[in-house]
Amino acid sequence: MRQQISRPSDQGKGQASDGEQGRSDDQELDKTPPLTSAPPHSLASPRRTSSSAAAKLILCGEHAVVYGRPAIALPLADIRAHVDIDDGSSGSGISVHARDLRRHWRVGDDPHGPISQLITSVLSYLQDQSIPAPDLGLTVSSTIPIASGMGSGAAVATAIVRALAAHLGQELTSAEISTLVYASEQRFHGTPSGIDNTVIAYEQPIWFQRTDDGRQTTDDESADPSSVLRPPSPLIEPIEIASPFTLLIGETGVRSATRLPVGEVRRRWQADPARYEALFDQIGAVVTQARMVLKQGDLPALGSLLSQNHTLLQQIGVSSPQLDALVGAAQAAGALGAKLSGAGWGGVMLALVAPDTRARVAAALSQAGAKRVSETEVNLSRPAPANS
Ligand code: PMV
Repeated sequence: MRQQISRPSDQGKGQASDGEQGRSDDQELDKTPPLTSAPPHSLASPRRTSSSAAAKLILCGEHAVVYGRPAIALPLADIRAHVDIDDGSSGSGISVHARDLRRHWRVGDDPHGPISQLITSVLSYLQDQSIPAPDLGLTVSSTIPIASGMGSGAAVATAIVRALAAHLGQELTSAEISTLVYASEQRFHGTPSGIDNTVIAYEQPIWFQRTDDGRQTTDDESADPSSVLRPPSPLIEPIEIASPFTLLIGETGVRSATRLPVGEVRRRWQADPARYEALFDQIGAVVTQARMVLKQGDLPALGSLLSQNHTLLQQIGVSSPQLDALVGAAQAAGALGAKLSGAGWGGVMLALVAPDTRARVAAALSQAGAKRVSETEVNLSRPAPANS
């Protein structure tokens, strides 16, 4: 059973701690620019509010991050989900038009769908229960490939939360947005680590580590429901990047729902915990070294760590022939390193490239079957907080 998230100010003493704690623990990162604000909600003049959210890539540490090891994730500011909200006519309720999915529905007719549930829970977070729900039309569109390890679901959810808050004339902190989206991620995936909602809500490169050990999941009958509603105050830190670097993203074109490989890894871990704990430890060590070399600007060392991470992900059983083909092709063409990114079994891989090998690696990826190859320059979009 899941509990609704309520605003810290609405919460009873016992419940308030998580929301409040999220705020204080995340203060370091909570320096994102204020969200688009809108005039107070008024039905007199129909209004449109627009918001968006970035895609993301996990640079290293996926899967092990579910089990308490650190991971590094990056926002992809140029690839985004967009949400427009228009005032609806009185009594029309809330409707959603998901353009890319060619779906149009009324929240009241699909109350258990993940997007409908997100909208309902966000409205109950933003508004006093005594205020009737507003009449709204949401239009969702996205250039993020679905089920490909680029955080499509979390980005759509984040854009919805931002747009609803802006339309109702409220500002939410990145920590609040992240918490609301985490609840939505749970409806899709069951056992998310919280890394996707965090990197997308803060929209800056992050070091992320759960502070529980990841053993309790929504699948566990014995799990205490209140402890799995939110990532229990994960450690979230800005990452220092001494030298900007270029990543190529190769898409296999194979859709893979996150919960399938994540569920399979959990079954394997349950069957052979010693082996999987050792693999997760090795991934954790790679991620720790990656943070160090990012700070030093040592890109060849970073490349080698990314390739090591791919080998460990193969051993965990989440790669696929297509991913291995793309990773191998990138490495053979001179990439500094390459790995799958995200949950695996499909989706995307990334290759770290130097300026002189970029074109050759991109061509090799296409030749090896990539359905699309895109490029992203990784830099610190904003200076890290002073005391990071
Ligand atoms: O949703 P994806 O494909 O980006 O994968 C998320 C990363 C995992 O570590 C595999 C799962 C998680 O919740 O952290």
